[in-house]
Amino acid sequence: MTTVAIISGSPSHTSKTNRVAEWVSEQLQQLGHTVHFIRLRDLPAEDLLYAHSSSEPIAETHDWIRQSRAVIALSPVYKGSYTGILKAYLDLLPEKAFAGKLVVPIVTGGTIAHLLALEYALKPIFSILGAREILHGVFILDWTLGHDDEGRLVLSDDLLSRMEEVFQSISCATEKTVIG
Ligand SMILES: Cc1cc2nc3c(=O)[nH]c(=O)nc-3n(C[C@H](O)[C@H](O)[C@H](O)COP(=O)(O)O)c2cc1C
Repeated sequence: MTTVAIISGSPSHTSKTNRVAEWVSEQLQQLGHTVHFIRLRDLPAEDLLYAHSSSEPIAETHDWIRQSRAVIALSPVYKGSYTGILKAYLDLLPEKAFAGKLVVPIVTGGTIAHLLALEYALKPIFSILGAREILHGVFILDWTLGHDDEGRLVLSDDLLSRMEEVFQSISCATEKTVIG
């Protein structure tokens, strides 16, 4: 089984991205993986803003990332890119914090016109952080996210099958680690 850090990078308290992140976390745990969930809006805002990388809550998340074989980073598209809170957080990570990790970007957005935010915004910073295994990633149009009568997130069949591919890659990452 794989240890996975999920970084949820929306500042919104009614965040669709965070709901997707929670759904991903539940699915991974049901598959037997260990999940460390990092909801950036819950970290001390002042520590993020003033780059206090040694603050205890932030240092704890760095440990979780160090212990993880895979990292799933989620962000809404804001102004054509990922969010400022995610940048503030990534700036505090140790150099090459993503080296040796499978990294998966998941982005929610209001228009397909900004699909390439995955490619030109997120993937380069993962690479700078040392990632060499970066999955294609998943772009989710916000209006395709539904919910059932009990308020649970409902994903389209197409989105579910793209998420399945992510889960399969995460399960294979374990095998590689065990064999290696
Ligand atoms: C400040 C702001 C800027 C946004 N800019 C874009 C954008 O440039 N392109 C886009 O496709 N969607 C944009 N959106 C829409 C969001 O990406 C989309 O609704 C997303 O699912 C919101 O996620 P959240 O609820 O987790 O914040 C923007 C939304 C906000 C609040």
